[in-house]
Amino acid sequence: CGIVGYIGKRDIAPLLLEGLARLEYRGYDSAGIAVTAPKGGLKMVKAKGRVRELEAKVPARFKGTAGIAHTRWATHGAPSDENAHPHLSADEKVAVVHNGIIDNASDLRRKLEAEGVEFLSETDTEVLTHLIARSSAATLEDKVRQAVRLIEGTYGIAVLHADFPDRIVVARNGSPVVLGIGEKEMFVASDIAALVTHTRQIVTLDDGEMATLTAEDFRTYTTEGTSTSAEPTTVEWEAASYDMGGHDTYMHKEIHEQADAVDRVLRGRIDDRFSTVHLGGLNLDAREARQIRRVKILGCGTSYHAGMIGAQMIEELARIPADAEPASEFRYRNAVVDPDTLYIAVSQSGETYDVLAAVQELKRKGARVLGVVNVVGSAIARESDGGIYVHAGPEVCVVSTKCFTNTTVAFALLALHLGRTRDLSVADGKRIIAGLRRLPEQINEILKAEDEIKELAQEFADARSMLFIGRVRGYPVAREASLKLKEVSYIHAEAYPASELKHGPLALIEPALPTVAIVPDDDLLEKNRAALEEIKARSGKILAVAHQEQEKADRTVVVPKNEDELDPILMGIPLQLLAYHTALALGRDIDKPRNLAKSVTVE
Ligand code: G6P
Repeated sequence: CGIVGYIGKRDIAPLLLEGLARLEYRGYDSAGIAVTAPKGGLKMVKAKGRVRELEAKVPARFKGTAGIAHTRWATHGAPSDENAHPHLSADEKVAVVHNGIIDNASDLRRKLEAEGVEFLSETDTEVLTHLIARSSAATLEDKVRQAVRLIEGTYGIAVLHADFPDRIVVARNGSPVVLGIGEKEMFVASDIAALVTHTRQIVTLDDGEMATLTAEDFRTYTTEGTSTSAEPTTVEWEAASYDMGGHDTYMHKEIHEQADAVDRVLRGRIDDRFSTVHLGGLNLDAREARQIRRVKILGCGTSYHAGMIGAQMIEELARIPADAEPASEFRYRNAVVDPDTLYIAVSQSGETYDVLAAVQELKRKGARVLGVVNVVGSAIARESDGGIYVHAGPEVCVVSTKCFTNTTVAFALLALHLGRTRDLSVADGKRIIAGLRRLPEQINEILKAEDEIKELAQEFADARSMLFIGRVRGYPVAREASLKLKEVSYIHAEAYPASELKHGPLALIEPALPTVAIVPDDDLLEKNRAALEEIKARSGKILAVAHQEQEKADRTVVVPKNEDELDPILMGIPLQLLAYHTALALGRDIDKPRNLAKSVTVE
């Protein structure tokens, strides 16, 4: 979901609608906008569907002194006009937009209903509007403070009140809130994507923090009422990075940005003198690095897959036992937290609730947690003891491509660093560094084959289901490629270790089920070839991604060879293009696949 708010002299509605459009990638089943009317009272418009549906409903004269808007991804209550935010209180004086989930909403609702309050929607958010409206406190700040203190759960909120038209009050607990500081105007949003066209001076609120925005000024304080000092920082992401730059979709643009993105994650970090890397934010000295007995990597979706590749690199280069697990599973299984394990949280947005909750649980149990994160200053980055920013730049398409690649490169850097504090030789360090430096050029080489892949995609577009296989280094690549295809084309896809084929999936093989096989030129090449043979013998159609033509495959996409350990970074890239062009051929909504959101900041 996304929040935007503005207070100042500009025409509010177009400004907020533009902000919402930039946040649509976070959720998009309904949207709404409210402003404090110059003659008093609040005005509000809501619409089910995309932001453009809302835009069509907003009247030409929709002026106000302050405004808040929201784009929603349903958690409580189905997508509808009523359930869209903002939510108004019964006296229509209070409007609230909210991201997050209020856990005790039904209790509070029951109590309010017993007191005679009538609810207009099924949402948990509406509880907040009534609590704020019914508070007897004198200031809006105190009304909001009293209300949020009654709430259990997560929230990022922005509140308008007809009696206080000169301000917006915002609060954060577990759901991002960022202030944009302008000249005689102030902005608020759940994501800097909505702010960067207007200002690059931002303040990120902490959990338990609130803020008051007036046109002239802002101040921050805790929900207990104590002032906090918040110095604006300058964001480095240019507004231009949010434009499509001549591409038809963000996904296409982001796939093609990967060579530059990898260049950025490497920049300034390689230390040729000691054949290692400098990772300034790691906060882990050599002695501490040597004491690590295990590495556990946690993430969701694509970030989890990047973590699987990371775990293998760490095992291979640093010889530390490492594995990755979905953060969402980890946090619910009362995992044994071990002081000699290094925990690594991976997240593009740095806001995924399941990952954040896992980090908080780990920290509570005294673990050391590093973050591998894209968004600077995000919640996970701040909760971690240190970490690596992956510097992929803003990623807008819901399905992740460039951030995945950069995350795997960040893991290669970490693995090299850990390796060089242990037994990785200078010669191997040099070899890996040379491999890392070759990546951007090799990525561009892969992308040159786009036309060939586009043609292949036409063949696969009518498949009902596809199998993706890979072995050891190739297996996480197969998993991510299968996820990419599912997310964006809606074709069912399943990834399997090639070694496990004979234990089940071979039963599925027939001409109608194409297989995509990851076949690197490493010590398992012959084993992989044998798997292709098994499939061929059963008339299965095969597309291989390999370092050389595969005789048993119907088609091979040849990718440039890097070092064995780094090959997984490259081998999935042609399959991003395959997913893209298959989805295009099927007419899918590529940047915003149905039912998905870019970052899931709720449970
Ligand atoms: C959502 C997105 C996925 C993403 C996952 C983790 O489910 O749809 O594309 O991989 O969240 O997001 P994160 O920001 O933590 O990497």
